[in-house]
Amino acid sequence: MTERLRFGMVGCGVIGPVHAEAIASLPDAQLVAVTDIIPERAQQLAEKYRATPITVYTDLQEMLARERLDVVIVCTPSGLHGEHGCQVMRAGCHVIIEKPMEISLAAIDEMLRVQQETGVKLAVISQHRFDPASQQVHDLLEEHAFGRLVLGNAIVPWWRSQGYYDSGSWRGTWKLDGGGVLMNQSIHSIDLLQWFMGPVRSLCAYTDTLAHRMETEDVGVAVLRFANGALGTIAATTGAYPGVSTRIEIYGDRGSAVIENDKLSYLHLARDDREEVGAYGASPQQSKGANESSTAAQNPAALSFRGHALQIADMIRAIREDGTPLVDGYAARRPIEIILGIYESARTHKEVILS
Ligand SMILES: NC(=O)c1ccc[n+]([C@@H]2O[C@H](COP(=O)([O-])OP(=O)(O)OC[C@H]3O[C@@H](n4cnc5c(N)ncnc54)[C@H](O)[C@@H]3O)[C@@H](O)[C@H]2O)c1
Repeated sequence: MTERLRFGMVGCGVIGPVHAEAIASLPDAQLVAVTDIIPERAQQLAEKYRATPITVYTDLQEMLARERLDVVIVCTPSGLHGEHGCQVMRAGCHVIIEKPMEISLAAIDEMLRVQQETGVKLAVISQHRFDPASQQVHDLLEEHAFGRLVLGNAIVPWWRSQGYYDSGSWRGTWKLDGGGVLMNQSIHSIDLLQWFMGPVRSLCAYTDTLAHRMETEDVGVAVLRFANGALGTIAATTGAYPGVSTRIEIYGDRGSAVIENDKLSYLHLARDDREEVGAYGASPQQSKGANESSTAAQNPAALSFRGHALQIADMIRAIREDGTPLVDGYAARRPIEIILGIYESARTHKEVILS
């Protein structure tokens, strides 16, 4: 039997336990050490997942120096991902970084440079790419089953209370969150939209802060032109009480799909039609739109660990086969380019052309 990979983690706040649970569900992974500058958080997590002994640290460098780790997961505030990710890579460990990879392209490019220099694997969490609905839509797009793509929309009408933003001094700040609803909550949907539709060529956007006391935006809209000529939109807020379904819509002249709260709620492909569809279209071939009662639209801690487990398993595969994880640093850079482009357009009131 292959030896289990030894995992460490830095940052034991809201998302830390989701990773601990994901690792516990995987037969060839074990969590052996955790670090947090708030010792009680690391202690609490180590006690909850004590099926294997977990050593607690308050300093990342000390954990890296003392432990023999294969992979370290970085779950600290977003603006610290570069610093912590580079420390991990320089210690010779593979690294999984929570989203967003970092909050500036300069920091991301430095992480990519260190990754090249050290030769370790780097993956960035975008767990919704592993949802069965996302995989199905992506496979169909690879087969060109939607025909000519014309429109792609990402709609994120979520709710976060003022208490959420006040729960950590980094939340909603430019320095450490790197933005508001777009950089933090909507990055999942923006990543899926560009994974499905392809690169964004240009965009125009508005952002504002309407329902919270915070530095960064709690509402944003953008109009997109994709490199393949299709158009698109992003509409996102954390001011939509009580939090409504996330929707990703993909429309082409041979088919359409809607993913609602991670489930495929609508799919219709011309190639599956037994009869000619009339001038006014047809009803869906597949409709399974049942919404779950509590989702990340309302509560950040209501996350299932399953997507994270699939993504950690994908990293283990990449390490064992010397392959590339599905979401490597280059893939994770793309949604950040779009989000930073949206901020630039909102600030300058000008169209932004992405490279
Ligand atoms: N994939 C997802 O769905 C998802 C969901 C939530 C959060 N996240 C991401 O995870 C990251 C953390 O978010 P969170 O909500 O868990 O934040 P959090 O504030 O709850 O937790 C962050 C933890 O990092 C610790 N920390 C800060 N500086 C540190 C340092 N120098 N060394 C060690 N520990 C340090 C803090 O004490 C805190 O416990 C963010 O980048 C966020 O975007 C991803």
